[in-house]
Amino acid sequence: MKAIIPTGGRGTRMRPLTFSANKHFIPVANKPLIFYPIETVAEIGVKEIGITYNPGGLEEAQRILGDGSRWGLKFTYILQERPAGLADIIRVCEKFMNGEEFVFHLGDNIFVGGINEAVQYFRRRKPNGLITMVHHTENRRMGVPYFNKEGQLLRYVEKPENPPHDFAVPGVYFADSSIFRCFKEDAIKPSSRGELEIPDAFQWMIDHHLLVDVVEYKGKWLDPGKFNDWIEANQYLLDSQLAPQLESEMGPGTILENRVKVGHDCQIEGSHIRGPVIIGNRVVVKNSYIGPYTSVSDDCLIEDAHVENSVIMEGVKVSKIRQPIDTSLIGAQSEIVNSDRPTSSLQFFIGEKCSIEI
Ligand code: DAU
Repeated sequence: MKAIIPTGGRGTRMRPLTFSANKHFIPVANKPLIFYPIETVAEIGVKEIGITYNPGGLEEAQRILGDGSRWGLKFTYILQERPAGLADIIRVCEKFMNGEEFVFHLGDNIFVGGINEAVQYFRRRKPNGLITMVHHTENRRMGVPYFNKEGQLLRYVEKPENPPHDFAVPGVYFADSSIFRCFKEDAIKPSSRGELEIPDAFQWMIDHHLLVDVVEYKGKWLDPGKFNDWIEANQYLLDSQLAPQLESEMGPGTILENRVKVGHDCQIEGSHIRGPVIIGNRVVVKNSYIGPYTSVSDDCLIEDAHVENSVIMEGVKVSKIRQPIDTSLIGAQSEIVNSDRPTSSLQFFIGEKCSIEI
């Protein structure tokens, strides 16, 4: 079995961060989001992954992911000419698959606890296609399965207006090579939003008497596509997975509480760190409070500040801020500093579509 993991798409829901960054490489609990899908498919024994990218995305993907050897995997980079939909991602991988069955794991989904049960079902029952489903209150923004009275999958629809139940299809799909037939002679067509939708590929299989099954995914599924979901995913992963570890010595006056992980070459003094908190490498924290559910990436400086429940990306500087910073996502190399200006005015140099609450 091979795998496909995409790094493309428009990233519209994570603007403004995605004006300058690819969401797949933004950290959750100090790890680029896409590392979670990679580790999940590695766990089920996959050795070869097709990493798809859109024009302009290859260099960064290769720089961050490499050739896969750090996970004992082999990556093949495959161009998707434009973000033309999830089924289009499968279409561009036909040659790479070379007739093998595959798992397609979206690059921005996290299946905490893995996808072992689903892959075992696929291997044991050998349907042509397999999707999973989860309960989700917002399933109108997702793919939704429709069943007959016997519980067989009849239809699979992208973002329906009035779903009949609260089931939704999260981003992991299994198929054999019969799925590629839906791309021949334009058997499936782009939707009204101009994309080849993933449900249409599986619907084509159902309509052509190929077996498509559904299994319920009972583990925790995270979809950090929007700001709030990102904060929630960061919280969940720190809460459930963070193992305490200190690779730097704590300076005078530092209090550590609960689970705290600190990387190497950090300088931490006169501060109170209340976990779960993860701090990367070469981070300076002085006279500050870092509260629960905070991830601080490499090379940050936090002094005379109070930060909690936040994701701080690399190279950020937060200095002399009197009010607590809470539930925030701060993009790489940003600075929030109190420059002791004599007036009470604020000074900003910010990009488009930023969100600032004062
Ligand atoms: O998260 C689960 C949902 O994911 C499913 O329920 C939906 O059926 C499915 O269509 C998808 O919906 P989204 O609107 O969340 O998809 P998004 O545009 O965020 O793209 C998902 C992943 O695929 C993400 O890793 C970006 C990548 N992508 C997306 C498109 C449209 C590409 O690489 N190329 C593309 O053309």
